[in-house]
Amino acid sequence: MNLTLKIWRQKSAQDKGQIVEYKVKDISDHMSFLEMLDVLNESLVAKDEEPIAFDHDCREGICGTCSLHINGEAHGPDRLITTCQLHMRTFKDGDTIFIEPFRSKAFPIIKDLMVDRSALDRIQQAGGYISVNTSGNSQDANAIPISKPNADESMDAAACIGCGACVASCKNASAMLFVSAKVSQYALLPQGRIEAKDRVTNMIKQMDKEGFGNCTNTGACEMECPKGISLNNIARLNREYLVASI
Ligand code: SF4
Ligand code: FES
Repeated sequence: MNLTLKIWRQKSAQDKGQIVEYKVKDISDHMSFLEMLDVLNESLVAKDEEPIAFDHDCREGICGTCSLHINGEAHGPDRLITTCQLHMRTFKDGDTIFIEPFRSKAFPIIKDLMVDRSALDRIQQAGGYISVNTSGNSQDANAIPISKPNADESMDAAACIGCGACVASCKNASAMLFVSAKVSQYALLPQGRIEAKDRVTNMIKQMDKEGFGNCTNTGACEMECPKGISLNNIARLNREYLVASI
């Protein structure tokens, strides 16, 4: 495949940035999207040009770092996959592809396609944990019975990889889907109930402090989430917050 790429280039956080056009040739449809960018970067390096900075780590849909807006959609046109799991067979010979960073006031651009998503880490640090005794006296996990539906829902919420696609897809740049997944995975388990009120209060407080917008029930977050995190989690987050507030 021969493709035209229109890629956001920005030297630093202070730079204004712009879309720059590149041509790539002989791209195999077996390549992943990131491998296609590797090919482009190799050609730029060979010409003594600055390669395009983009985030990636596991390249298996686990770490959540490979966050790109591709043709206006977070993680590209396919559903329930991350950018690293997107394959070039999704595109056609002669296509023009727009590649931009995830955009949100809370995700400042570091360089080119890399953004600073540490705001999500700080929300997690504000309450995304449980306190347990690990001194050798800890209870066997199976000693506390948990209903199958709750265990399943908690596990589904725990699938959130903190990629930030929900924020980038939301017209309000809301982080509610992310926070709701992190709150839900503990709220559904007895081990998470002990600190439940503090958790939801502190995580929402941190979310607001980071400058994320409010949820207006549009649902774009759920559509673009690579892990299928359900909007039901936002309903649970609201209930948890209400109970904690009164
Ligand atoms: S809720 Fe989905 S889109 Fe949002 S951070 Fe988690 S995995 Fe990514
Ligand atoms: S590189 Fe880890 S999820 Fe894509």
